[in-house]
Amino acid sequence: MALNKVYKLNTGASIPAIGLGTWQAPGEEVYKAVKTAIAAGYRHIDTAFGYGNEAEVGKAIRDALAENNLERKDVFVTTKLWPTFFRPEKVAEGFQISFDRLDIEYIDLFLLHWPCALNPEQGVAIPRKPDGTRDIDTTVTPSITWAAAEKLLDTGKVKAVGVSNYSIPILEDLLKTAKVVPAVNQIELHPYNPQQKLLDYCASKGIHCTAYSPLGSTNSTLLSDETINKIATAHNKSPAQVILSWGWARSSILPKSVNPERVKANTDLVELSAQEIEQINELHKTHGKRFIKPDWGVRVFDEDFE
Ligand code: A2P
Repeated sequence: MALNKVYKLNTGASIPAIGLGTWQAPGEEVYKAVKTAIAAGYRHIDTAFGYGNEAEVGKAIRDALAENNLERKDVFVTTKLWPTFFRPEKVAEGFQISFDRLDIEYIDLFLLHWPCALNPEQGVAIPRKPDGTRDIDTTVTPSITWAAAEKLLDTGKVKAVGVSNYSIPILEDLLKTAKVVPAVNQIELHPYNPQQKLLDYCASKGIHCTAYSPLGSTNSTLLSDETINKIATAHNKSPAQVILSWGWARSSILPKSVNPERVKANTDLVELSAQEIEQINELHKTHGKRFIKPDWGVRVFDEDFE
């Protein structure tokens, strides 16, 4: 059963191959989705300060554990530090806000959400300069924030730390000074943006990759891809189930859904043939696309569609 599969992290912990993504899932909707997911057997939930839903996600996890006779250790929970907390003196403060909002004893994995720091002084989530560009604090490098994140491990409130949206050059730079190798790099991964080079690089450093937007996010063109649909018909599965079947074999995946039927369907995966996997591996050559591209104004991604 797909829900039983786990990957090993460099901390020795196991991360379930399928987790529920919660970006763009607010309030009551995400509360119900998380409860549905845990009742359906999900043991991995992903959230972030930046999603604005940690309190609801945390409450849903607490309620679902009680209702399903589970213990805290049975569910792997990830959250992420927002870049306005990337100055070293603000890292513990940002962590504590997420920790308090979730209120689930400890965090399994805490990620630096992006490799850019945002100026915290405007007091908003995405501060902008008068010209409209993001107000990035370039004096705060990923290595500086990472050194502060490593210290969180001493608090016992978090079991592992990692990063998100890190490219190979940015990771190379981080690893020059890091005392702790990131446990995870959470990145956009799906057939149109498979990032095999980055996956291979991370594997060579002992960094596990987790796929966000494994379906291509909202209004995905992937779901109507002809090749995916042909393979889906052959297996009597939906296009989403084929995309996720391809994805979970190469990394952990975080499909997001607030629809109870889709939350459940997204765990009903199939074994694809080598030929089908090869056909899907080829898609990026003609349909390469990164769906999530915030306007950072600086180079974040070093490569696309490889
Ligand atoms: P919804 O939440 O209404 O189910 P991603 O995981 O790549 O970010 O994609 C999330 C998007 O895909 C959301 O719009 C979600 O909508 C939709 N989605 C999730 N699961 C499925 C599915 N099995 N079939 C079709 N669309 C899905």
